[in-house]
Amino acid sequence: MKKIIKIINKKNKSKIVCLTAYSKNIAEEVDKYTDIVLVGDSLGSVLYNYSTTRKVTLTEMINHSKSVRLGVNKSLMVVDMPFNTYATKKSALKNAKKIIKETKCDAVKLEGGKKIVNQIKLLIKNKIPVMGHLGLLPQSTKGKFKSKGKTTKEIKQLISDALLLQKNGVFAIVLECIKTPIAKQITKNLDIPTIGIGSSVHCDGQVLVTDDLIGLNQTNIKFVKKFLNVKKYINKGLRKFASEVKSNQYPSKKYSY
Ligand code: KIV
Repeated sequence: MKKIIKIINKKNKSKIVCLTAYSKNIAEEVDKYTDIVLVGDSLGSVLYNYSTTRKVTLTEMINHSKSVRLGVNKSLMVVDMPFNTYATKKSALKNAKKIIKETKCDAVKLEGGKKIVNQIKLLIKNKIPVMGHLGLLPQSTKGKFKSKGKTTKEIKQLISDALLLQKNGVFAIVLECIKTPIAKQITKNLDIPTIGIGSSVHCDGQVLVTDDLIGLNQTNIKFVKKFLNVKKYINKGLRKFASEVKSNQYPSKKYSY
């Protein structure tokens, strides 16, 4: 709970840094710079080439989260509940409890507003911290991903969903691909922090898929800034290994018994 209060208290004071991790070794590095480490179901497309996050299973999320848990020390660890694991109140509670018990994460994230508010209420009543997710909802999107907050109807829905989630106890909300003025307005309207992804600088924090920002995963999504080309370094090391094996330089005496 301490970590969650710390995140909420950052609102209007300092920006919240959130990144994804799918395994221990990346989590260890990510944890040094983040407030929140998210085991996102984006792992479906990033690691398994799934055409949609709907294909991600509970077992996959739990297995990756167990590994991530080993690398996360100071940050809050949040795990995405995959598609179809919170369709009803009963399934949401059963699966959220399973995720918390097996992965020892601090909170879960669910995509949606009014439609899933009863599930969210029940989890929070059972002392399971919940992070919301509004705007573009990959689990509910079939076909092309489009930004949100363009029509009056959409704007009204986003604003009322954000207030509803806050009223029912979520500690933060991810805003995905929401038009700048609307993300700004939602952030201003709320007492809890918003974490933006493609939703402008006006959010209280930002999240990106780590594999995207370090150039490990190739993507041309508009909001992804490539902060590093890590493949260049990986290739340098691998090329050197291959070359030393072929030339009998490796393993030298130093590396032999
Ligand atoms: O699945 C994911 O990684 C996410 C973030 C990108 C917000 O939900």
